[in-house]
Amino acid sequence: MRRAPSPAGGRPRVILAVGLPGSGKSTYFARRGIVPLSSDALRLLLADDDTEQGFQAWIFQTLRHLLRQRLRLGRPVTYIDATNLTRAERRPYIRIAREHGGAIEALYFDAPLEVCLERNRRRGRRVPEEAMRRLAGRLKPPAPEEGFDRITTIVPAAPSSKARSGRSGSNRRRPADGGGETRSRCDAPLGRPRPPGTRPSIAPTPPAIRPP
Ligand SMILES: Nc1ncnc2c1ncn2[C@@H]1O[C@H](COP(=O)(O)OP(=O)(O)O)[C@@H](O)[C@H]1O
Ligand SMILES: [Mg+2]
Repeated sequence: MRRAPSPAGGRPRVILAVGLPGSGKSTYFARRGIVPLSSDALRLLLADDDTEQGFQAWIFQTLRHLLRQRLRLGRPVTYIDATNLTRAERRPYIRIAREHGGAIEALYFDAPLEVCLERNRRRGRRVPEEAMRRLAGRLKPPAPEEGFDRITTIVPAAPSSKARSGRSGSNRRRPADGGGETRSRCDAPLGRPRPPGTRPSIAPTPPAIRPP
């Protein structure tokens, strides 16, 4: 397939959210006007229900297809909004980004389980608490050795004292921004830094190309 030119001066970036349900992924994107490739949005599109869990393979196959298409179209930044809790779940995105000459970054929503449970309760017990605890047990924070060029950690703006208990104080971050604070843990050089204040998801459209 003919590939659209890559964004001027840089590699395309794939930015993968990692975090439990309720950790604030979708809110973070919405507050910044970012339209991510979202597994919940695809559930709604494909199965008429954004909570449908019965077609996981279809949902994620579609998500990866859309990511490949965006990379072929030369889109400079693609965000992925899904839990991506394990290395096995994250591996395909790392591979796809690399296959297209792109950089891969993780955006880790490091909200304590108690915070996620509380938010989950407030939105109407969307995910059963038992399932939330199971998911928390599977969560493996993203690590540089997986192949990420950058890992950014987002923490809740105001963790309660209860939520903080049991966590090491030394690795908790300052709150900020209402949407959490970012802290870069691993920061390999990328093609081109994004100028401050610009929105990656609405970068200029590259020259049009015909679909295959
Ligand atoms: N930074 C935040 N501070 C307070 N509440 C938040 C924050 N981020 C998200 N929430 C609330 O938590 C709930 C879950 O957030 P959401 O973004 O849907 O999480 P996720 O996409 O990770 O499942 C929502 O009701 C949202 O309003
Ligand atoms: Mg969400």
